[in-house]
Parts: sequence; C-alpha cells; structure tokens
Amino acid sequence: MADIEIRNVYKIFGHDAKKALAMAKDGLDKAEILARTGSSVGLNDVSLKIGAGRIFVIMGLSGSGKSTLVRHINRLIEPTRGEVLFDGSNILDLDPKALRAFRMRRVSMVFQSFALMPHRTVLQNVVYGQRVRGTSKCDARVIGMKWIETVGLSGYDAKFPHQLSGGMKQRVGLARALAADTDVILMDEAFSALDPLIRGDMQDQLLQLQQNLSKTIVFITHDLDEALRIGSEIAILKDGQVVQVGSPGDILDNPANDYVARFVQRRHGRPEYHG
Ligand SMILES: Nc1ncnc2c1ncn2[C@@H]1O[C@H](COP(=O)(O)OP(=O)(O)O)[C@@H](O)[C@H]1O
Ligand SMILES: [Mg+2]
Repeated sequence: MADIEIRNVYKIFGHDAKKALAMAKDGLDKAEILARTGSSVGLNDVSLKIGAGRIFVIMGLSGSGKSTLVRHINRLIEPTRGEVLFDGSNILDLDPKALRAFRMRRVSMVFQSFALMPHRTVLQNVVYGQRVRGTSKCDARVIGMKWIETVGLSGYDAKFPHQLSGGMKQRVGLARALAADTDVILMDEAFSALDPLIRGDMQDQLLQLQQNLSKTIVFITHDLDEALRIGSEIAILKDGQVVQVGSPGDILDNPANDYVARFVQRRHGRPEYHG
C-alpha cells in the first residue's frame, strides 16, 4: 500500500524557468507567462494527497498538465519546485540505484499507446518486469499466465501484439502492470483510444479487479463520465492548476467554478444556446 503526496509542485518547460516560476508564483496565468518568457507552465503549485488503495482520477482538457503530473509520480519528470512523497519519503532524494528499484517494484504504468514490445509475445510482454528483476522464467510464466487469464486473454499468451485488437492490446498493458506487482499503477488515458463499448468493458474490468486488489491507481482521463464512473476521488486540472478535488458527488453537486460547471453541464447533454 502506498500513499502519495504531491506538495507545491511547479513544472516549467523552457529556458527561462526562473523568471517563469517567479511569474507563476505572482499569479500570472499560463498564457501571459508564455507570451512574456516563451516558457510553458506545465504545473502551477499543485498539491494533492492520493490515499492508498483507491482509484484517484486526474481529469482535464488536453494540455491541462495531466501527463506532466502523472509522470512526476514515477519521476519520469522532475519538478522545477516542490516535492513528491511516497509513504512520506521524497522520491526526489532517491539515488539512481534506488530510483531503478522504486520504478521496478513500487510503481508501474499503463500507456494510452499501449507501448507493447512488438517482437515479444503477449506472455513475454506481461512478464517483462518480473524477468528484469530476476524472477525465473518458470515462476514468471506462472505469474504471467495468471494475469493473462484474469484480464480475459486466455489462449492469447503466444500471440504477438500485431495479432490483437486495440482493446486486447490494452488488456496486455493492464496485465503487464498487474504482473509487475507494484503498489501503485499509473494509467495515462489508458482507455481513451478505445471504442466506447470496449472502453466500458475495460472500465468494468478495472473496477472489478480493484475490489480484490485495492491498489493505489492514479487514472488520467479527459472524459468526465469516465472520471465519475472510475474515481473514488477526482482532481480537475486547468492550465496546470488544480481547480477542484472531490468525490464524484461533490463534483456533480458543487462544481467549484464555471470551468467545472461547464464540464458537468456537457455531460447532461444540455445544449448551449448563443444569442
Ligand atoms: N517536454 C515538453 N516541453 C515543452 N512543453 C511541454 C512538454 N511537455 C508538456 N509541455 C506543456 O505542458 C502543458 C501540459 O502538457 P501535458 O501534461 O502533456 O497535458 P495533458 O496530458 O493534460 O494533455 C502543455 O502546455 C504542454 O505544451
Ligand atoms: Mg496527456
């Protein structure tokens, strides 16, 4: 089990990080900072507490900073300022060796683009993390076959990625993350590329799995329906800032501002009339 805490994280992309950071702290908005410095504010003073054993959703439009934020959690991206704590210890303090171990054992990731290795079979893809950390071929196979069956891919273990549909590929991605046996799984728009029906099936499967697993899952989406369906808690990002954090009920009943309210409104299919 792992608690994650993100503390006052800023991420500036560009050369003039110092100047851009000072402007962000002074409350200038993203567009203005970009115009003045040429630097892009990826994250702007983000603080979040992500409780262990739950599905925490980060939602926002494209460009709002979701991928940037989730990549701070396994330190694929380092913050310009701020801290990322795992069970109370700052992962920015890990040396290269400890960081490798952390990525191997504590946190795994499922990508929108699947990111499967094309010349390896389903089974080889699924057990890759186990093999890298030294699990024997025989033991890894047992683990791999269990997760392949769990995600509904029995009989496909010897197939190659190009022989699978998008939904099946993402089942492999999920099985790989589960086989890695980490406390935390990061899912960056993992279902966003799938057709609506398949996507619904994957959401159901994830919720069902989670009942037994109780992993800490950080799930990224730009889709409010998906966020409401999957999340125990939802954080809404806009221009690199957290605009609201709450349960699905909180978000629906008490949208924190117009931005969130518009998301909620769109879901109910209320058309907007102009003039
Ligand atoms: N490597 C990078 N270099 C420059 N700007 C970046 C980089 N990565 C992200 N950004 C900028 O940071 C902002 C957030 O991007 P991203 O986290 O990818 O958003 P999302 O995942 O919500 O679509 C965007 O303005 C984007 O252009
Ligand atoms: Mg993204």
